[in-house]
Amino acid sequence: MNTNNRTDALLRFSERIVDIEDIDALLDQLLYEARTQCNADAGSIYLLEDNQLRFSYVQNDTLDHNRDDSRQYIYSDQLLPIDTKSVAGFTASTREIVNIKNVYRLSTDVDYQFNESFDQKSGYRTQSILSAPLTKQSGELIGVLQLINKKVSSGFVGEDLDYLSHVSTIASGAIERAQTSHSILMRMLRMAELRDPAETGAHVNRVGAYSVEIYNSWAQRHGIPEEEIRAHRGTLRIAAMLHDVGKIAISDLLLKKPGKLTEDEFDTIKTHTSLGAELFENGTIKLDQLSHDIILNHHERWDGNGYPNKIAGEEIPLEARVVALADVYDALISARSYKTAWSEEEVIKYLSEQAGHQFDPEVVDIFLSIQDIIQEIRNRYRE
Ligand code: C2E
Ligand code: SIN
Ligand code: SIN
Ligand code: FE
Ligand code: FE
Repeated sequence: MNTNNRTDALLRFSERIVDIEDIDALLDQLLYEARTQCNADAGSIYLLEDNQLRFSYVQNDTLDHNRDDSRQYIYSDQLLPIDTKSVAGFTASTREIVNIKNVYRLSTDVDYQFNESFDQKSGYRTQSILSAPLTKQSGELIGVLQLINKKVSSGFVGEDLDYLSHVSTIASGAIERAQTSHSILMRMLRMAELRDPAETGAHVNRVGAYSVEIYNSWAQRHGIPEEEIRAHRGTLRIAAMLHDVGKIAISDLLLKKPGKLTEDEFDTIKTHTSLGAELFENGTIKLDQLSHDIILNHHERWDGNGYPNKIAGEEIPLEARVVALADVYDALISARSYKTAWSEEEVIKYLSEQAGHQFDPEVVDIFLSIQDIIQEIRNRYRE
């Protein structure tokens, strides 16, 4: 690809990412763009967290095409120290771009070693790596971006280094903003959590992640274009995390009640749907609209016996049908102030029985077919 095309692509990329608020969606776009421009088969991003590097995002064309469960690696959890012993650590320590032709034949005068654990777990074979620091304008480190396996020729070239250093600068500002929105969102959710001890940060993160994965699978089945799916995932994750913010308006006495609710008390709790949705009523951005739909409709049932409006079937927005299942799955498999945790078999049995009654049968079917990813998510976000 020539320099002009790349400059155009950079400009278009910087326009596209200014309004991405979800950090995962942003990393996804960044990695996709950099891989496309530099012709890399795979790539990953590490973000700085408490003076360590957290393996935060991965994409891999070969694994994506060979097996349909490669998305589970998104949730694998790995921390690296910032020292010169690993490729990512070395990049973070020196703030220099590292270009390696073959990780299994490293020169003897380098300090770092290639970590083979991902290759071993996944069966993938890493060869070339281009590893670049992500830094703020101030020079402060945010993380490390790695491109893996140049698809043509024998490795990454000077052009790729130049491109990566530009795209990293553009992306760093956007990552910083997305991290700020994310921490404001988490604070807002923590306020809601103070009201209802069952709605923990971990519960909310799990419901967000389950919902993204169910939707992803649904959308692929329905032939939705990959770009559209990508663009929607980040918004959906945030909107799904907000499903119960309406509980901010409900009295502690009800939410923390240890036993069964009276009918009147339950009627009051039911208002968390419409009260929460009001907060997003007149919003103009896509996130407001989707949050409104999910918050309002996450307790509707496929058979029309839910609340608040008793709508049924496909009258219920797809995303609300998805969050309804994700939320109930997590509520059942966890302990609550008013109930003990159910076993996995009991939960699966319940969800299967409720297909076509409480839940959209296709959503149940998809959920049951992605159990390996669901279990990865449970591991990733524990109480
Ligand atoms: P939640 O605890 O987040 O529960 C979400 C949904 O999970 C419930 O919506 C219900 O569909 C499902 N669920 C939770 N536990 C059970 C269970 O033991 N059996 C079955 N079949 N489904 C269960 P729902 O029922 O509309 O409740 C909405 C919210 O109202 C709950 O959110 C919780 O905050 C509150 N709530 C519901 N029942 C009780 C209760 O008996 N005691 C107390 N203190 N709160 C309750
Ligand atoms: C993505 O895969 O689009 C980003 C991560 C996510 O929201 O699941
Ligand atoms: C997160 O929301 O912190 C990341 C979830 C993921 O690993 O995709
Ligand atoms: Fe709810
Ligand atoms: Fe919930």
